[in-house]
Amino acid sequence: MNLLVTGGSGFIGTTLVRLLLRETGHRVVNLDKLTYSGDTGSLAGVGGEHPGRYRLVRGCVTDAAAVFPLVAEADAVLHLAAESHVDRSIATGGARVFVETNVMGTQTLLDALRSTPGGLAKRLVHVSTDEVYGDLPLGEPGVRFTEETPYAPSSPYSASKAASDLLVRAAVRTHGQNACVTHCSNNFGPWQFPEKVIPLFIARLMDGRRVPLYGDGRNVRDWLHVEDHARALLAVLERGRAGETYDVGGDNERSNAELTAMLLDAFGLGEDRIERVADRPGHDRRYAIDAAKIRRELGWAPRRSAWPEALLETVAWYRENEAWWRPLLEKAGRAQTKRRN
Ligand SMILES: NC(=O)c1ccc[n+]([C@@H]2O[C@H](COP(=O)([O-])OP(=O)(O)OC[C@H]3O[C@@H](n4cnc5c(N)ncnc54)[C@H](O)[C@@H]3O)[C@@H](O)[C@H]2O)c1
Repeated sequence: MNLLVTGGSGFIGTTLVRLLLRETGHRVVNLDKLTYSGDTGSLAGVGGEHPGRYRLVRGCVTDAAAVFPLVAEADAVLHLAAESHVDRSIATGGARVFVETNVMGTQTLLDALRSTPGGLAKRLVHVSTDEVYGDLPLGEPGVRFTEETPYAPSSPYSASKAASDLLVRAAVRTHGQNACVTHCSNNFGPWQFPEKVIPLFIARLMDGRRVPLYGDGRNVRDWLHVEDHARALLAVLERGRAGETYDVGGDNERSNAELTAMLLDAFGLGEDRIERVADRPGHDRRYAIDAAKIRRELGWAPRRSAWPEALLETVAWYRENEAWWRPLLEKAGRAQTKRRN
């Protein structure tokens, strides 16, 4: 197939594009705006390794003139392009770009699919997040998100993702769009922009600095290796039932304090390296996914998410690939200083 992947230069997109080129015969066009979180370095060389099967188009998912012809050429679309960092969506003036990219970008793709001959039959895999469900209480381990859980997003990020999901669902119901929506838990692994908690903490510890832990550190996340997420997206692309939603998770719930302790341990450092910082406003307490549906219907299961091994492998990757992430961190730092001025 000819696949259009949006946001293919981001964290999950990079892993997905590499997986598609390595393990399938599909051709990939990657539409990416290369915002601060998208980087050509993460896919450097893949075009040469897979001649004729990979092309990067630098463009914005809200730009109909760029999107319509790419959708017309594609047999299916995997939609990952998004503003993805919760803290940025909370910052003053930060939410607007989340609405533009996440909501308007998704609608632009839906419009393109609808206006292309045969477009409604093309499979759209809309990559969303478990954060659309809001949060779960601590201390009730039996309670987890399922595909039936009502939406209750807490942050501008998750609200914009929820809005985009609803537009996809509406296109399924009203126009018969062949689409699936996925809700995945927190991902970890290589190529993640170093503002997110795991690479940020690793970078800080490598620099001899302290790590900022939000609030009481008891917030729980269900961590999944990014390659397991990419495999789930491939399964949904190939075998998902049209119109269905699939929740994807790692059965790997960890509190932020537990995650921090494991990272400190990997560096042989103690709790004196923790800096307690004020909690994130509206901070979700617990995310946990019941992934029974995708396991049962599509035969998917995580292969690479077992901790501590997978977390230690990730630590080793960031230690070995400083040349990739350090310039990004410095660029992000400079941009922040500019904004403050
Ligand atoms: N990271 C996670 O833990 C996680 C978990 C579940 C779901 N998701 C979802 O997966 C998707 C990818 O997340 P990620 O962590 O890889 O994010 P990311 O921020 O690392 O990557 C996003 C990519 O989208 C591109 N992009 C941003 N705005 C764009 C625009 N207007 N037009 C074209 N490209 C644009 C960026 O340049 C970047 O390459 C997102 O939709 C996110 O909501 C992420």
